[in-house]
Amino acid sequence: METKLQTTPYKGTTDTYPQDMLVRNFMFNTWTSVAKRFGFEEYDTPLIEETTLYIAKSGDEIASTQLYNFTDKGGREIAIRPEMTPSLARMIAAKKNELTLPLKWFNIGKYYRYEKPQKGRRREFVQLNVDIFGVPTLEAELEIFQYILAVMEEFKAPKETYELRVNNRYLLNYLFEDILKLSDEKKGKVGRAIDNYTKLGREAFIEYLKELELNDKQVEQVLEFLKWTLEDLKKIADKSEGAAQLLELFAKAKELGLTNIRFEPSIMRGLLYYTGTVIEMFDIGSKDNPRALLGGGRYDDLLTIFGEEKLPAFGFAWGDIVLEDYLKTYNLIPTTKTDTKVFLPLFDTKLYTYIQGIAKQLREKGINTEAQMTAIKFGNQLKYASKKNIPWVMIIGDDEINAKKVQLKNMATGEQNLVTLEEAMKIINS
Ligand code: HAM
Repeated sequence: METKLQTTPYKGTTDTYPQDMLVRNFMFNTWTSVAKRFGFEEYDTPLIEETTLYIAKSGDEIASTQLYNFTDKGGREIAIRPEMTPSLARMIAAKKNELTLPLKWFNIGKYYRYEKPQKGRRREFVQLNVDIFGVPTLEAELEIFQYILAVMEEFKAPKETYELRVNNRYLLNYLFEDILKLSDEKKGKVGRAIDNYTKLGREAFIEYLKELELNDKQVEQVLEFLKWTLEDLKKIADKSEGAAQLLELFAKAKELGLTNIRFEPSIMRGLLYYTGTVIEMFDIGSKDNPRALLGGGRYDDLLTIFGEEKLPAFGFAWGDIVLEDYLKTYNLIPTTKTDTKVFLPLFDTKLYTYIQGIAKQLREKGINTEAQMTAIKFGNQLKYASKKNIPWVMIIGDDEINAKKVQLKNMATGEQNLVTLEEAMKIINS
């Protein structure tokens, strides 16, 4: 006997049935419409890239353990993209002299990482990437913050349920170099520990720092650092570029009236290319979604891996999985059940052409129409329309054709009226 193939999708991936697609479209349409409102332009890149692109700057975790990579038939080392940023930098480096700065670009696409599937983490996921190139000052950060907050408002997210946490890599460097006086090798390790601070919990974190051979004083200094507020930054603003930038950023954000943002010294970010500001956003209203909804930062040096001069850049990526979980936690997904507006039953095969003609007229008026293709029992056709939550059924038999009218049935109330096609269109569109 032949072995039967499985119907379950590959580990860490999900099939999206039409009902789930409505939820996805709701999220993606919101991302897109707000991006366009801010003047961001859409772009795209290939799903596969040469592996070296990620080895250069994505960081150890992605490059050595999470990459889906293979050798192609021509012997090239290829990887399926685990993130967008290196491709975007490549694309911009390739046409740097032709592009008019600043660039404000966005994309929604799929990414693949060989991760342990768990709450908020899949092997296949979608990211919205929004990036600005060519703005060296903190106005790039402010533009992105305003975009993120506008999307949250569009989702009608309650203000007390989310927080954009902001830090600066130069401030972390100040901790590593000026306070702790660490070697380059240890900087990376302590950075990773800080990145995992909330996940590890205080005790495990201290243990970990001790394993990295930080002495008691250094451990104390790290713990002190993690308690810093903007007030503490004022004391070192003349010594640390990171502190000065954070103070300026928060002062400007205040002038703009931005809410839901906070300086958080433990935000580190795993990727190697970040230079100044780094951000992550969290659900702070529940314990259901501990992972970051989005993450990003400044990466002014990334173009240098292509032998180009530096180009200021700031951007972030927002994943679909944690966002959907978040929206479900707070009941923010509207209950659209279908995009189809009207269903046309078919009583008799000989009416097929006539009904198709009516469907064509409806579609030309922008009304999403599904017409029955085979003449089966009317009761079953009605049941089908009801099961698919189509709000209107337009019943057309010989009597209606002779009267040049249609029976329009409202599926929610059961009410049915004999009206002209034009009247029916008006009612459906109202
Ligand atoms: P990242 O932090 O690796 O950053 O990912 C950004 C977001 O993508 C995460 O906050 C999460 O929402 C989502 N994400 C990442 N991995 C997974 C996964 N395995 N399953 C589900 N969702 C996931 C970057 O990718 C940077 N390239 C972002 C960026 C853009 N920086 C500057 N511009």
